This record gives sequence, structure tokens and C-alpha cells, in this order.
Amino acid sequence: MAIVTAAAVTGPFSTPVKAAENARPVILIIGASRGLGLALAEEFLKKGWNVVGTVRCEHTALHELAAPNPGRIEIAHVDVTSPEQIAARRQRLAGRSFAMLFHNAGTADANQDQTIAQVSTEQFERIMVTSALGSLRVIEALHDLVPPDGLIGVMSSGQGSISANENGGHEVYRGSKAALNMYMRSYAARHAGDPRPMVLMASGWVRTDLGGPKARLAIEDSIPKVVNVLLAQRGKPGLRVLDREGSTVAW
Ligand SMILES: NC(=O)c1ccc[n+]([C@@H]2O[C@H](COP(=O)([O-])OP(=O)(O)OC[C@H]3O[C@@H](n4cnc5c(N)ncnc54)[C@H](OP(=O)(O)O)[C@@H]3O)[C@@H](O)[C@H]2O)c1
Repeated sequence: MAIVTAAAVTGPFSTPVKAAENARPVILIIGASRGLGLALAEEFLKKGWNVVGTVRCEHTALHELAAPNPGRIEIAHVDVTSPEQIAARRQRLAGRSFAMLFHNAGTADANQDQTIAQVSTEQFERIMVTSALGSLRVIEALHDLVPPDGLIGVMSSGQGSISANENGGHEVYRGSKAALNMYMRSYAARHAGDPRPMVLMASGWVRTDLGGPKARLAIEDSIPKVVNVLLAQRGKPGLRVLDREGSTVAW
């Protein structure tokens, strides 16, 4: 459960991100081991930000990205299905400040053709607990590490839109993102007057382990735009559901 710096993972070439926090803005990305979360880490690095990224395993692509970027990436561990791990992570991050907190971690069902009644209870629980409950547990636990001029973001999906669901399919996944949107809306309602923007982001359908090989977009078609949208939201209080072009997604 210790925070692992690039130095600790790959050799004594790196200073922890904490030492540089005054010099560069820092984003905390929950779920940065691969896919869109890893790409977000890469893109924020390019923009001059430092990154604290969470993973669940010891050897991930984020560790590989940290190696040639000494002092810029810090790696921490958390499984968002574990309230105990979230609480421990919050304790270890005490005293830190993040210009952005972005919750990216999420999961889907392997067989997306099953209707909701065909899905096993175990599958349903795994997906809902990871993508809906886990996301909000993380936001509730870590939001006070984001200062008033910071931003809180969560990776949602166009599939979470109730009004845009005209074909069914991907039903547990859709439900988990719709629930995520609803819980984030409750969070925002409870924090009315909060100066921090809150963004539910829809990246588009992207080729990752989750998106699959048939997805329309490559990671590089989506994530640079997602990052620009997030950066443009700074200083704009309120909750928004936005796509990678910055347009509002119908809920
Ligand atoms: N790809 C798309 O088309 C698409 C479209 C819209 C929204 N999204 C959303 O974007 C996010 C990232 O998706 P992706 O396409 O990059 O998927 P991915 O390649 O499968 O990556 C999923 C990420 O979530 C992490 N994660 C999963 N379960 C976790 C848990 N219990 N605790 C902590 N981390 C966990 C994974 O960590 P491990 O490596 O440890 O498993 C990994 O970093 C998800 O929320 C997804 O729903 C994706």
C-alpha cells in the first residue's frame, strides 16, 4: 500500500513528485495502469503536469512511463472496490494538494450481448461496485485534496446516457455509468456552491482492452482532446457531462 516512486520501482534516478509539487500542477489519476488512464498520464506529462497515478499491480505500463520521466510520475496502489484501501490511500495522501483529481478506473462485462436479466449477480456486482460505487467512494474520500481552484473529474461514457439508449446492449455497463452520473449529480447537489468544476467525461468509443479492437477511435484520437476539455473547464464551477469535443452529453 506504500506509494511507489519511479526511483523505488526502477532505480535511484528520480525524486518523488511531492518535492516538485510547488513547481508544476499535479493530477491524481485513479486507474492509470493502462488504456485511457495511462494515456491521460502521458498527455498531462506532455502539458507540463506531474502525475500521481494509481495501479493495482507491481509491473504496469505506468511504471514503464515513470522510468524515463524521473520526478514526474509517482505510483500509488489502490483497488477501488476496497473501502479499506481507499481509506488507507487517503491517509497516505494527507497534506497533498492536487490541481485535478480524475477518477478513470472502470470495468465492463466480457459478454456485452447479454441482456440485464441474463447477467450473473457476480458480474452485476463487480461492474456496479467498480464503476459506480467505487468511483464515488474515491471522490468522497479524496475530494478535499483538491483546492478551490482545482477540478474533479470522472470518466463516464456516452453509454451512460438514458436518453441516448435507443438500442439496448452493453446493459450492465450502461447501467453502471448511468448510476455513476446520478451519484455524481447527488454529490454535486450536496456541494452546491463549490467553486470547483466537476466533469463527467465521455471519451468516445476507443480501442483499449475495454473498448475492444472494433472501437471507432484510437487512443490518440480521444485523449488529447479529453485533456484539452478538462483544462478548459478550470475555473468554471458546476457539474457538466462533456464529450471529447467539449459538447454537453444528454443524460
Ligand atoms: N474504451 C472506451 O471506449 C471507453 C469509452 C467510454 C468510457 N470509458 C471508460 O474509461 C475508463 C478507462 O477505460 P479503458 O478503456 O482504458 O479500459 P481498460 O484498458 O480496461 O482500463 C481500465 C482501467 O481501470 C482500472 N481498474 C479496473 N478495475 C479497477 C479496480 N477495481 N480498482 C482500481 N483500478 C481498476 C484498470 O486497472 P488494472 O490494470 O489494475 O486492471 C485500468 O487502469 C473506464 O472507466 C471506462 O468505462 C472507456
